[in-house]
This record gives sequence, C-alpha cells and structure tokens, in this order.
Amino acid sequence: MRKPFVAGNWKMNKTAAEARALVSEMLPGLRAVETVERVICPPFTALSTVAELLAGGPVGLGAQNMHWEASGAFTGEVAPAMVKEFCQYVILGHSERRAYFGETDQTVNRRLKAALAAGLTPIVCVGETLQENESGQTYKVVSGQVRGGLEGLSVEEVGRLVIAYEPVWAIGTGRAASGSDANAVVDGIIRPTLQEVFGNAAADAMRVLYGGSVTGANAAEFFQMPGIDGALVGGASLKPADFVKIVQAAA
Ligand code: G3P
Repeated sequence: MRKPFVAGNWKMNKTAAEARALVSEMLPGLRAVETVERVICPPFTALSTVAELLAGGPVGLGAQNMHWEASGAFTGEVAPAMVKEFCQYVILGHSERRAYFGETDQTVNRRLKAALAAGLTPIVCVGETLQENESGQTYKVVSGQVRGGLEGLSVEEVGRLVIAYEPVWAIGTGRAASGSDANAVVDGIIRPTLQEVFGNAAADAMRVLYGGSVTGANAAEFFQMPGIDGALVGGASLKPADFVKIVQAAA
C-alpha cells in the first residue's frame, strides 16, 4: 500500500555539464521501473539542466536543502519558490547539514513547514551518530528528531512527506546497517513516535527510507523489510548501473 521510493542524493558532486551526462546515462533505466517513485537530487547549480532532461517524464527532481524565508537578505541561500521552480522534492535535515552547518530540529522544522507550504514533497532525514548508538541513545535521538522536526504539523501535512532513516555511522562508510537493525529503528522508533503524535493512520501511511551505504548489491536486504519503503542513496546514486539496480530492487 506504500509506494516504494528511491532517491539519489548526489551531495556536492557534478557540475551541470557532468550532471547532464550522468542523467542521460541513467534515465532510460530509471524510466522503465514504473512502480517505484524515483527521484534525483543534484546540487542547486545543476537543477535547471536536469529539470530540462526530466521534463514531462516520470522521474522526479529534488534539491538537497532550502531556506525557510521567502526572499530577502540571506546571502548564499535558496528560497522555497526557487526550488519549486525546478523541483518537486527537497531533502531536509541531512546529517551532513546537522553536523557541518548547524542544522537543528528547530531549523529543520522551519524548512519543513516552508517546503510543505510551497507544495514540495520533503524528504526529512533522521539518524543517530555512532557514539549515540553505542551509548544506547538511539531511541532518544531518533524519536526526538522526529518529534522536533515534525512539530506543529497537521496530520494532512504529515501525509505529504517522506522520512529517511540514515544512521550517521553508515553514511559513506561502506558499513551499512543490517536490514533487521534498520527495520528495528523504523518500526520500533520512528513509526511508534509518529503514532503517538499523529495517530495510527499517519504512522502506517508514512513512507520511511533507509540511507547509508546502500548499493546495488545490498539494496534488496532493506527492501525485504516490512517497515522499509525505499532508500536514500548517496555514493551509489552517482553510478548509473548501480542506481538503476537499486531502483529495480525496490519494485
Ligand atoms: O543521503 C544519502 C546518504 O547520506 C547516504 O550516503 O554514500 O552512504 O549512500 P551513502
């Protein structure tokens, strides 16, 4: 009942020219997998170029962040309407934004409200660090990020977003979580928190992705899990054959 969802987070990789070449290479494979909602998230500077390539097709386009203010004196920032001009999706609260750029649950919440108001589908990232995991704080951290990030949203608004569970220790390390460990967080922490705050139906309907060293070789292990509805893919989303394989595994 929850449509599978796979998004590629390119992070700070690829110029517009390189993005054109990369998308052209993966697009035929991505187009073919109709049962999966599939999304590409290049850097801001490549959005216009990639939007032209995806126009009118089934593959969605997302930004990797955005500001909450509509316009004004915010040097270096990108406003919701600027993202919406090209994109249908936006990644918010990625752990790299939290770790390197001061992102907090409060700022994620502001961005999230602005993204929903702009008609974008937000992909909200949560996840614990290695130290938090090893000191038994996963429940507190992840549940707190869900509560804080989604604070004040209506049930209708919660129905328009996607959550990505990305344990920080699994990102870019080649050390993915096991399918069952990831599922334990998704169905043991994230959905129960949603249930408590927004009710059963909202928790059941929420699509929750796993992210962290997902590859064409291990994707199926996550997609077999009852609580995991797809993946947010970093490194492997820059490799056309691998990314297409991940999308196929989600079908
Ligand atoms: O947002 C995707 C992500 O952080 C995972 O990155 O390279 O481990 O797939 P990677």
